[in-house]
Parts: sequence; C-alpha cells; structure tokens
Amino acid sequence: MKALLLAGGLGTRLRPLTENIPKPMAPIANRPWLEHLIIHLRDHGVNEFVIAAHHCSEVIRRYFGDGKSWNVNITYALEPFPLGTAGAIKNAERWLDERFLVFNADIVHLPQLIPLLDFHRQHGGIATIVLTEVDDPSSYGVVEQDDQGQILRFIEKPRREEAPSNRINAGMYILEPDVMRYIPAEQEVSIERETFPRLIEENTGVYGIVSSGYWRDMGTPARYRQVHWDALNREFPLPIKGREIQPGVFVGENVKISSGVLFVPPVLIGHNVKIGHQAVIGPYAVIGDDCQIGSRVHCAHTIVWDRSLIRDRSRLQNSIFGYRTVTPAGEVFEDSIINQFKEAVQA
Ligand code: GTP
Repeated sequence: MKALLLAGGLGTRLRPLTENIPKPMAPIANRPWLEHLIIHLRDHGVNEFVIAAHHCSEVIRRYFGDGKSWNVNITYALEPFPLGTAGAIKNAERWLDERFLVFNADIVHLPQLIPLLDFHRQHGGIATIVLTEVDDPSSYGVVEQDDQGQILRFIEKPRREEAPSNRINAGMYILEPDVMRYIPAEQEVSIERETFPRLIEENTGVYGIVSSGYWRDMGTPARYRQVHWDALNREFPLPIKGREIQPGVFVGENVKISSGVLFVPPVLIGHNVKIGHQAVIGPYAVIGDDCQIGSRVHCAHTIVWDRSLIRDRSRLQNSIFGYRTVTPAGEVFEDSIINQFKEAVQA
C-alpha cells in the first residue's frame, strides 16, 4: 500500500519553531512526528511512501533518505512553490497509479487502517474522507452525510447549534487514482475547498467514516504542547523511548542526574542528558537528547528540543525551546517560544 504524506506547508502558526524545519518534523516526545507516523503506518502494512514537500524539504530528505533504515521505500515529490493540499497530490501523480492513502502529516492521529480500507472498498467511491468527532465543531468544516455515509456537503465553521454533526475532516483520505482527473496541474489547489466540493457536486462518490482514537492538529504552540501533555498522561498512547525510573518519569540512556534533583511527574528525559544538582523538573517537562540542564533550574510545562543548554538557575515555564538553544544563567522564560538555531538542518 502507498501513502502520500503532505508535508509542504509553511507552518506559519508554529513559527519560529518552523522557520527551519517543516512542521511534521517537529518532535513529539523526542522523535519527529513524521517518524512516529511512518513507523505506525509501516506496522499497519504501508511500505511505499511519497513525501510531498517544499519548505525545508532537505530536512526531511536528510533524516529519512530512501527510508531503508525504517524498512520502507520513500520518494520525494518536491514542489517549486506550495501547491496546496490537492496540487501536491497532482504533483505526485506519476507515483500514484493505484489506490493510495493521503495524510496531512501534521495531524497527530494513529489510525487503525484495516476498517477504513474495508469501508472504502465496500462503498466503492472515488474518495473516503476519514472523519473525527469533536466536542465543538464551530471552528471546523463539518460534514453532512446520508445514512450510507456518503458526504452530501461541507459546512464551514457552523454555529454550534446549527452544525448537522460533530464530524470533521480528520486530514486523512483514501483515494482512487481517478481523482487526478479532477485536479488541475501545476497550480495551487486545495483538496478541502476545491477538489472535494467538486467531487461531491459531480456525484463521484465521496464517503466519510469516523476513525476513533486520539486526534489532534499540532499546528499551534498550545496544541503542540497539549499533544505532549496527553502523551505523558497516556491519554494519547504514543510509544515513548525511556525507562520509567519513578511513576510517570521516563528517562533515556546515559542520563546523569546530580544530587538533589526533584522530578515532578509526568516527565520525559531523552538520551545523554545531564541534569545539575537541585534542579526541579516537571510537572509536564520534556527534555530532548543531548541536553544539559544546569543546577537549580526549574522547568515545568515546557518542551526543550535536542542539544540545548539551559544554564543554572533558569526558570522555564510554559515554553518551547528549539534545537540547540542556549539560555543565559538565571533567566526567566514564561510562555516563550525560542528558536536560536537558524540552519535548515536537523540538529
Ligand atoms: P499554517 O501556515 O500554520 O497554516 O500551516 P501549514 O502551512 O502546514 O498549513 P495546514 O496546517 O493547513 O496544512 C495541513 C497539512 O498539509 C500539513 O501537513 C502541511 O504540511 C500540508 N500542506 C499544506 N499546504 C501544502 C502544500 O502546498 N504542499 C504540500 N506538499 N503540503 C501542504
């Protein structure tokens, strides 16, 4: 089975973290989200991937190469300018000559593929849109379906009481290659706003099925942090690297913890991390690989990416630090998003 991973957006809402990486490469629990997704899909029978990329595409290519280290094949469909979510599919047409999956690679969801593929096969449409149910659909595009699951229309951002359902597009599709006939080439096209409405209008058979399980869009700093807290709480059952040294405290290999360090769970520490004496880590702290945390640092509700140096007595609260951040001693960070490392390569 083939999957096209859409990873070519600019990720403006997650800047400055996405200034030098594509958003799907942002780490979730110390591993790029795209890697979690590829591993999950591989374990569910997907072995061919096409990654549609543009902004900082070399970060993805350097990290995954041809995919052999993950036992999959990866090819890259690079865009000269962002072609939008359908334009990117059209741009990858030469690799997509049989039924294929499409993922918005910034959506944090690990679907069970078999029931979704069975549904698509049984209904025989040109497209199946995977849906998720949300409490308040008023900030999304909501779908209206008939009792066979066929999608009749999308309603953008309905008032809560007027929404025909609480089902929204989950950012994952099963498509037949025939969809290519409905997407113009070499121009920006949105699948949500242009292609799906056209397919529905032309009665080609667009169906929707709900995929249960944890679902979140990680596109803003608040949501990106929340995905981490949900993973630490195990509300989102993401595989986490590390040994549980006390309840809710996961620690990688070769970690040096000085005297008097207090962990307040939940906490995740990467590999090769040094933590200075009397530091207080947590609650809700994720420290990446190869980081150094100085003495008496307080770090809570904060994510620190790999190879950062947090100097003594710093206070980190509700913040995100990009790769290779270096903080001055004694500095206070609250609600900060820091990206000091400007080269477009993975740390
Ligand atoms: P914002 O600028 O913060 O809205 O983020 P974004 O540019 O990533 O847009 P959005 O969140 O709507 O994108 C959803 C998914 O589609 C993400 O995985 C993007 O990487 C991907 N995507 C969006 N636009 C394009 C595009 O033009 N080409 C490709 N290949 N992927 C895209």
